[in-house]
Amino acid sequence: MSRIPLIAGNWKMYKTGPEAVKTAIDLANLCSKVQGIEVMIAPTFLSVQHVAESVKGTNVKIGAQNLYFEKQGAFTGEISGDMLKAADVEYVIIGHSERRQFFGETDESVCKKIKAATQIGLKPILCIGESETQREEEKTFEILDKQVSDGLKGLGSDELKNLVLAYEPVWAIGTGKTASIDQVDDVHQYLRSLLEKLFSKDLASQTRILYGGSVKPENVKDLMGIKDVDGALVGGASLDANKFINIITYNT
Ligand code: 13P
Repeated sequence: MSRIPLIAGNWKMYKTGPEAVKTAIDLANLCSKVQGIEVMIAPTFLSVQHVAESVKGTNVKIGAQNLYFEKQGAFTGEISGDMLKAADVEYVIIGHSERRQFFGETDESVCKKIKAATQIGLKPILCIGESETQREEEKTFEILDKQVSDGLKGLGSDELKNLVLAYEPVWAIGTGKTASIDQVDDVHQYLRSLLEKLFSKDLASQTRILYGGSVKPENVKDLMGIKDVDGALVGGASLDANKFINIITYNT
């Protein structure tokens, strides 16, 4: 089964509305001839609707960085899946390590969010990854196993047909340290076999598994050359359209 690569930019808490719109339009112009690859950007909640409107009809797809699992109600400060859908959002990043680390996200809340996303037709990008200590203690696979099994608990292959996994080793995020080719290769192979064990061969072969953690124009080609790497989730290097396009066009 062929998996169309996805190169996604997570803009985290960067850019005001006008800055986000400008970068998105610049990127859409630079991407106008890109083929055979999906491009997505995830601006802040505040900018997402304007950004979506400004790149409508272009090659650039829109993601959100989080959602709340309830449909609506007295949940001050939260945003629902329906609200994101109405703003033309297609993807939603769930369980990013920064949300786990700073905002109390757990595998249980991640699971509820994945369910909410799939029910409304948003494509979930489930982020998983071990800390430096966990890697040193050789707990990487155990941690990933738990994050995937608990994060997707109670969901079936049908509901997960648009699932994307993003392996983001915490120690490689924003540090300039990239996991080695062997480390990424081992983990991505492991994740695909885990999906097969937990769900089905079909789901395992159709699910895109992205790598994230200090992806840059200089290392993207090697990373994308790994068999089970189907794209990248890029933080810092996605903030500048000229830099990000060099990642997106790694193959040209
Ligand atoms: P950096 O590319 O800045 O390391 O961030 C990765 C990331 O967290 C993407 O979600």
